Amino acid sequence: MLREGVIVMQSIIEVEGLEKLYKKKRALKNISFQVKQGEIFGFLGPSGSGKTTTVKILTSQLLYTSGRVKVLGSDPARSRHSEFLGKIGVLTDNSGTYERLSVYDNLALFCRLYGVADRRIETVLDAVNLNDDKHTLVGRLSKGMKQRVTLARTILHEPDILFLDEPTSALDPVNSGRIQQTLREMNSRGTTIFLTTHNMQEAEELCDRVAFLNHGEISALDTPQALRLQYGDRSITVTTQQGKQVVQQNDAGANLIRELIQRGDLLAIHSNEPTLGDIFVKLTGRGLE
Ligand SMILES: Nc1ncnc2c1ncn2[C@@H]1O[C@H](COP(=O)(O)OP(=O)(O)OP(=O)(O)O)[C@@H](O)[C@H]1O
Ligand SMILES: [Mg+2]
Repeated sequence: MLREGVIVMQSIIEVEGLEKLYKKKRALKNISFQVKQGEIFGFLGPSGSGKTTTVKILTSQLLYTSGRVKVLGSDPARSRHSEFLGKIGVLTDNSGTYERLSVYDNLALFCRLYGVADRRIETVLDAVNLNDDKHTLVGRLSKGMKQRVTLARTILHEPDILFLDEPTSALDPVNSGRIQQTLREMNSRGTTIFLTTHNMQEAEELCDRVAFLNHGEISALDTPQALRLQYGDRSITVTTQQGKQVVQQNDAGANLIRELIQRGDLLAIHSNEPTLGDIFVKLTGRGLE
């Protein structure tokens, strides 16, 4: 979360008019956004909307067609590769681990590559809940466990920015909760996080701001709270002995609720705040799955 008291927020990622063409397919259409230092920024969109394409461009794994991109002050397509990669952590489905090495040995290898002391391994294994499996060969792990090994590798060198492409997609609720907690802790120590997800709940809980991506275009960008206020109808559902009733937040609604309370008829009351998923459907006409 953004730390209070910071007045000037520097942009750590700047994207202006970004276009990506794969042959004839226009995967990104003139997208612009900025991510501030210390933010958790969510990129939300259904399959094929361009999330992975964006992550790959921002992390210098893919060239873009036109526009302007700056990450940590320089263009990822032109930055000095090893220096740049030392400052970022990337988790995508192609992030490799060595299947015939143990969890621990995989991480030890990357410690050497990044010039990080081996004692950091215990810390990252705790963060991803894999300390009990550290001597298991990666090839023998489940998909979700492999994803956690990759995440451990991604945070080994304490990068300034973490790019996570669907970080909890293969995880059960307990482990995705644990990973979300780890991400919050890293963020509170200063790591900026750019994450893509289809998981609206994850986005609501973790992200300071979210962008909705639809067919390669950004259709909304704001804090989850601001999006709910802007696009929600803010009605209230009241439950009485007679059943449920939707009430608008106006004088008539207030009078009705007062009456129900006076009569002792009110059993339950719920605000109908839309979820980010509801808003996405409202804006784009399609769901996120
Ligand atoms: N190497 C490629 N060559 C041609 N087209 C591609 C290539 N990679 C992606 N695309 C197309 O670009 C569009 C965006 O793909 P991308 O992988 O960025 O989507 P995504 O939002 O990450 O989807 P998912 O949620 O399924 O991972 C899709 O239409 C996809 O078919
Ligand atoms: Mg993808």
